Formats: sequence, C-alpha cells, structure tokens
Amino acid sequence: MVRHTATSVVTIERFIIEQERQHPEATGELSGILYDIALAAKMIASKVRMAGLADILGSAGAENVQGEVQQKLDVVSNEIIIKAMDHTGRLCAMASEEEPGIIQIPENFRCGKYVLLFDPLDGSSNIDVNVPVGTIFSVVRKITRGRHGEMEDLLQPGRRQVAAGYVIYGSSTMLVYTTGQGVHGFTLDPSIGEFLLSHPNIRIPDDGRYLSVNDSYEQLWDDNVKMLMRRYRGLEGGTKALSVRYVGSLVADFHRNLLGGGIFAYPANRKSHKGKLRLLYEANPLGFIVEQAGGAASDGTIRVLDVLPTELHQRTPLYIGSKSCVEMAKECLSGVSQLVGA
Ligand code: AHG
Ligand code: MN
Ligand code: MN
Repeated sequence: MVRHTATSVVTIERFIIEQERQHPEATGELSGILYDIALAAKMIASKVRMAGLADILGSAGAENVQGEVQQKLDVVSNEIIIKAMDHTGRLCAMASEEEPGIIQIPENFRCGKYVLLFDPLDGSSNIDVNVPVGTIFSVVRKITRGRHGEMEDLLQPGRRQVAAGYVIYGSSTMLVYTTGQGVHGFTLDPSIGEFLLSHPNIRIPDDGRYLSVNDSYEQLWDDNVKMLMRRYRGLEGGTKALSVRYVGSLVADFHRNLLGGGIFAYPANRKSHKGKLRLLYEANPLGFIVEQAGGAASDGTIRVLDVLPTELHQRTPLYIGSKSCVEMAKECLSGVSQLVGA
C-alpha cells in the first residue's frame, strides 16, 4: 500500500483502486459502490451549497417513517442516492432513513451482492440555519440466496459491515470512509469537482477533549447517566472537564470528536428507552469508522457493532468516540464506578 502524505495529490478514485489492489480476490464491485457514493455526495453538496437560493429549504410537508417532518433536502438527497445507486448492478437492495421499508432494485436492472443502508441527510433541523449537515452510509454483503435483497440481508449486525462512511457538508465538503483498512478523509475541490486525499489514516486521540450531548433531556436520564455526565464535566470522580460542543448534527459532532478527541453521547431516557439515533444507518457506520480509527462505540452496555438488529429503523443509545470516554460510560452505566468511589 502506498503511504500517501497529505501533500500527495490523490483522488478518491485512485485511492480506492490502490486499496482494492490489496485484495487480489476483489471484484471491483465494492470500489464501484464507493465511486457512486462519491458522485452522489457531489450532487448533494451542490444542492446543500445553494439551498438558500433554490426552493429546497424548509419542510417537504410530509412525515417520514420516523414520524419526523421531512425537509425538502431530506427528500432531494434521498432521491439523489437512490437514482445514483439503483442501476449500477452492484446492489441487491437499499434501505434509507427516509423510506419505510426495503428499497428494491427495479426489475430492469441487474442485482449485485451488496446492500447499502443510508441516512441521506443527517442533521435536518440545521439545514435552514446553515449549520453543517451530513450523509451517512453503511455497506454489507448479501447473505440470502436469490436475486433480490431481503430484510435478512439488511438486518445484519454492524460487525458484518464491509464499508462505512459519511460526508460532512461543512466549511468544506469532506468524505470520510473505511473498508476495514483504516479511516481516510477526502476534501472536495469544487473547482475541479474531485475529492482529494486530505486526511490519510485518521486516528482518534485516546483522551477526550469534547463532550457532545443534549442535556435538555437531563430530567429524563437515570441516575447513572446523570453521574456519567457529571464525570465528563469534571464535577465528580476527579476527572478532567471536557469542553461541551453540540451542533445537533451527529455527523458534525462526530467528525470534530474524531479529529480532536471526545465523546458523543445520546443516552436512553424515560421517554425514549432506546434514545433517538438509528442503529443501522447512524450508529453502525460511525461505530465501524471510530473503531478503525482506534476509538470505541457502545450502547452503554455492549459494543454497538454487536447489537443484533430486529427492525430496520430501530434506535439505540449511543456513546461513541475516544476509547477512554467510552470506557467511562460503560463503567458508570454498569454501576461499577459506584463501587470504585465515584
Ligand atoms: P436526522 O436529521 O438524520 O434525523 O438526524 C438528526 C439526529 C442527529 O443528527 C443529531 O445528533 C440528533 O438528531 C439531534 O437530536 P436532538 O435534537 O434531540 O439533540
Ligand atoms: Mn441522522
Ligand atoms: Mn436524516
């Protein structure tokens, strides 16, 4: 594998080919999926960049399966990804946060051996106020026989992912992905329309710097969670106080913590026992990335990638980021730290 430095001018396409060459058995189909996602990301980035000018701000006037009001950009981004991916012959099915069930490949297109699960636009509440939003994707292999994908192909634990990534539409547009060979970041150069390698081999600092949590739910948390948040804030247990940074877009909060070190926490609470974030297309892909970068992701009890899915849009509590911060969460939430004198 060529060890690139950030000064090498390497397009994402060339980088993907170089990674593929590490696997002589590779057929190129997974590489093709990553190219297609990069294309869809450029198209969504173009819509996001001018959202204030075109008629794509605000609500689409409909609700999605989550019971959330769909923003126009949710719907536009969802359509862009489906249309970019459905005819490539690389997928046997898709699933989207914005679609109730399995997205089948149209009869007139060839089916492939992979499944794509995605959140087309993450952080929708931030679109109209020009705060970074993102796209999150996860790829697993088809495990059933037959031509078309089935629900069983979609409901696989995160440890079976073969690729995962996100796009952040921020001060610049970045695509960050892993295929199990480390985590690599590419920045879009809009003047040439290319994603160029800017962050080779991303590693998350072991020690946290940032805490990302919406503590307006504090009254709904159980005592262990309240104690954990006091420890993250340096108010208990002699721990270092983390700086609180909460954007309200998971991708933006996660990306900052991936590069700077920290923890993103969306605990369960008395109103939503599984928290808010979705397992298959939010927690799992970011969990694969953070582990590949040397961090961890837990639902507070077990490794997120080991959670066995039972339904497409199931939610999970999420503690994701620097290993030491996630360990602290597991200690506090299992009640251990009460024994060790919090
Ligand atoms: P989405 O826009 O795809 O529904 O995701 C929104 C998620 C996530 O991006 C963010 O971290 C979280 O919702 C914020 O939730 P709260 O507003 O409850 O803090
Ligand atoms: Mn989301
Ligand atoms: Mn979304």
